[in-house]
Amino acid sequence: MKVAIDGPAGAGKSTIARAAAKMLGFIYIDTGAMYRAVGLYAWRRGVDTKNDTEGVVRLLPEIEVTISHVDGVQRVFLCGEDVSEEIRLPEISVAASNVAVIPEVRLKLVELQRALSEKTDVIMDGRDIGTYVLPDAEVKIFLTADVRKRAERRYLELAEKGVSTTLEEVLSDMEYRDKNDSGRAFAPLRQAEDAVLVDTSFNTPDESISEVVNIIRGKQNVL
Ligand code: DC
Repeated sequence: MKVAIDGPAGAGKSTIARAAAKMLGFIYIDTGAMYRAVGLYAWRRGVDTKNDTEGVVRLLPEIEVTISHVDGVQRVFLCGEDVSEEIRLPEISVAASNVAVIPEVRLKLVELQRALSEKTDVIMDGRDIGTYVLPDAEVKIFLTADVRKRAERRYLELAEKGVSTTLEEVLSDMEYRDKNDSGRAFAPLRQAEDAVLVDTSFNTPDESISEVVNIIRGKQNVL
């Protein structure tokens, strides 16, 4: 079974998808981490990810992104180096959103995402999973929340990790990414016609997890 969970940054996709996958015995695949790995590579090489599309495309043949799962937790490797922590830095969030606009980057990563979904039951989260990567997914969920709530959650997450930032900075990065991710021409962020909308603005994480698990179990029962 394939489950697609899409939505903007900070809606709770990864927390909910990871927990649901554990409860249901599915593999969780975080596709954002792959765009972050490409963003990190370009950022390390000093390429201006916003304006220098050609510079990013030129790097692509050198970039090898792979993932593996350790106790159900996804780790991301960039040319063999485990970059799972470093890709979470705020500057890499913006670089990821920038490189994700480039069709050549998307096509490279979509190939990997589709191949991973062939092997086992998956819950995959991202921006274009239900609309582009896995259009035949049996369950599609569009997870969203008010932008201020999303920024507050991301800010607390970063503060817990000791990353120095402000709520205003996180909010402004999030608004930038929302616009970039929804406004791009190729596979933009949007709700698939056959996706169920889940708004997590006023939910606890446990409430959102139950809602998503119930949607998936409901579908499993009729298949
Ligand atoms: O889910 P995330 O915040 O880790 O994703 C980082 C960026 O990657 C996000 O701003 C847009 C991009 N992305 C994408 O374009 N398509 C996906 N399927 C997943 C992420």
